[in-house]
Amino acid sequence: MELCKFTGKLNFKMQQSIAEDPNFVRKVFTFEDKKKNPGETLTVSIPEVLDPQYGMYVWPCAVVLAQFVWKHREELSGKTVLEIGAGVSLPGVVAARCGARLFLSDSSEKPSCLQNCRRSCEANGLSGVEVLGLSWGEVPPDLLLLPELEVILGSDVFYDPEDFEDVLVTIVFLLRKNPRARFWTTYQVRSADWSIEVLLRRWELDCIQVPLDQFDADKPELAASSLPGRHTIQMMIITKKHG
Ligand SMILES: C[S@@+](CC[C@H](N)C(=O)[O-])C[C@H]1O[C@@H](n2cnc3c(N)ncnc32)[C@H](O)[C@@H]1O
Repeated sequence: MELCKFTGKLNFKMQQSIAEDPNFVRKVFTFEDKKKNPGETLTVSIPEVLDPQYGMYVWPCAVVLAQFVWKHREELSGKTVLEIGAGVSLPGVVAARCGARLFLSDSSEKPSCLQNCRRSCEANGLSGVEVLGLSWGEVPPDLLLLPELEVILGSDVFYDPEDFEDVLVTIVFLLRKNPRARFWTTYQVRSADWSIEVLLRRWELDCIQVPLDQFDADKPELAASSLPGRHTIQMMIITKKHG
């Protein structure tokens, strides 16, 4: 059975304009579950912008997190999910295509990234996804108005050590407001000197690392794409410290 294939008459015009625009490349990702449900697939299409800035294209971490989302699709269906630092929003789009109620966010100072969030939703026929400006370490009014969240997604948001604590401050705020929520995040190991461990202790957060082979992400090619390649990526689930 095909769960939700990318077809979309609605977004045909937009797809066509992106296809004709030399500033965009459309990346297609197909998720499958050969072991549990052979034949069940999900195809999503992500417009990438030909621009070297962060947030303009899919990072290796995003494919790994999207694979984790795909593998937990039954659990996510009907749940409320917020993605932070979403950029072109692959994990969030997969969550929404699997039935989650999705909110996307990126820095309020990067309107082009917020536009990428909207464009990815349109490209996948997702209407009703709210996009908000959320700069790490800040608490904009929109954040206070969000409904109860079950899952927060963050792919490659720990890429600059100067921002690590701000990312976690945002997560701590959200986990205090939504005590049952979990933060699903992927981290690309770029330097042995970087770590979030001390900060996790300081902010009283628990963290478990999920081995990639547990969700079939231990491969250089995923979702019919050549990402994540040879990068070292870790999948973590962060929650409020209990007890
Ligand atoms: C390395 S990119 C990852 C993008 C996307 N999550 C992915 O994995 O494909 C980092 C993202 O964080 C966003 N970002 C950078 N600084 C930020 C800040 N201070 N607050 C919120 N988002 C920020 C960038 O705009 C960008 O989308």
